[in-house]
Amino acid sequence: MNIRSVILAAGQGTRMKSRLPKVLHPLLGRPMLQYALDIAAAVCQEQPVVIIGHGAQQIEQAFNDKARLVLQEPQLGTGHAVQQAEALLRDEADNIVVTYADMPLLTAETLLRVVRSQEAHSGPMTMLTMLVDDPRGFGRVVRDQQAQVTAIVEEAQATPEQQAIRELNVGVYCFAAKWLWDALRRIPLSPKGEYYLTDLVAIAVEDGLSVRAELLDNPEEGIGINTRYHLAEAMAIMRQRINQRWMLDGVTLVDPATTYIEPGVTIGMDTVIWPNTHLLGDTTIGEGCVVGPNTVLQDSLVGNHCLMVASVLEGARLEDQVQVGPYCHLRTGAHLEPGVHVGNFGEVKNSHLGPGTKMGHFSYIGDAEIGPNVNIGAGTITCNFDGVNKNHTEIAANVFLGSDTMLVAPVKLGEGARTGAGAVVTKDVPPFTLAVGVPARKIRKLEKRD
Ligand code: UD1
Ligand code: CA
Repeated sequence: MNIRSVILAAGQGTRMKSRLPKVLHPLLGRPMLQYALDIAAAVCQEQPVVIIGHGAQQIEQAFNDKARLVLQEPQLGTGHAVQQAEALLRDEADNIVVTYADMPLLTAETLLRVVRSQEAHSGPMTMLTMLVDDPRGFGRVVRDQQAQVTAIVEEAQATPEQQAIRELNVGVYCFAAKWLWDALRRIPLSPKGEYYLTDLVAIAVEDGLSVRAELLDNPEEGIGINTRYHLAEAMAIMRQRINQRWMLDGVTLVDPATTYIEPGVTIGMDTVIWPNTHLLGDTTIGEGCVVGPNTVLQDSLVGNHCLMVASVLEGARLEDQVQVGPYCHLRTGAHLEPGVHVGNFGEVKNSHLGPGTKMGHFSYIGDAEIGPNVNIGAGTITCNFDGVNKNHTEIAANVFLGSDTMLVAPVKLGEGARTGAGAVVTKDVPPFTLAVGVPARKIRKLEKRD
């Protein structure tokens, strides 16, 4: 059967008190709306229709190629929002699944369950409900004496008796399209001046048709985000889910509560993560590594049996058995071959360090190609920037750089070359040659600049 997905994302999200549209607020590195798109993909191969309004331009920029965006202007409620998809979908689909963009914890399995239930049902709609003690301002699900669903009542309109109901409307529906488009026109205007999608339940019952309700097993999935407090709550649950998955896959998290792993990360077996570690973006870690405490890895690729302590890696690549830290900063394009050791206060950017190379203390290596088994003495700096250009440094195998060597790029050191402590190297050093001393001397006046 033909199915299409509609995601509602036009509301203002007033309660977030933010200049950023609610659905663009990130959770673990991804905008809230992305989660809605991801689960929609599980029930429908076509791009979902996303209804936008508030912050439409910003949402368009981020999602133009990921969804069919339809503008709702003005925003007259959730029922009115779904109506905006009619022109696109009327002749395209038999079933329409509708979700709200502010429920990032909903799983694909749950969405599929609602769809399957509707497909097996002769009535016009199936909805998702949950039983919880804290009603969170959700719509209440009203049932008659035969336990048939008869209405959803929004909190503001609920009688005290209805307010006491603990079965809530999650905000996930699957409709028979041929009924939906016409029924939407029959939604009455609410006292708040909106057309509520939830009124479709009473309309179906009026038509003598039965409404199916699927009960959510795990109410955590139904957390809708209206405030930043809800956002933090959702992130905590999302982190727990991810952390639990890695622990079950053989990764030790010494303290899951202070371990932050984003959804795109992968980690090998027997890796140990110490507290306050952040694994972000497109990061991959091999087996048997030790990461943290106090370490951030962003978009980095790490081999097996590496050690990273109290360090920040961004766009870095580590082969096997590399040791990093404490207090290291590896930046974009840092590529460390097996057995490399970068000790405290080392910074590496856009540089390749050959196997076995050691850089123990206080160094900056930028735009450099460094061969195997090089000793980078404490305080070594590649002076790679001349104020205009970034210049390249080349250091061949088995070079020994004395402490505090300044390598004024562009410069090359041949195999087995050595420098004395404090050397300022401004010219290439041939292989197996010792260079010492400080060539700094006055050569000319600089032109004054204003
Ligand atoms: C809604 C439901 C409520 C349910 C709750 C679950 C209605 C009337 N109420 O209430 O029964 O328990 O969600 O979270 O549906 N939106 C539009 N256009 C609009 C208005 C809203 O696209 O004109 C979008 C919003 O961006 C949001 C979603 O629809 O993603 C839900 O709107 P929201 O205002 O958050 O509804 P709730 O008050 O949470
Ligand atoms: Ca909501």
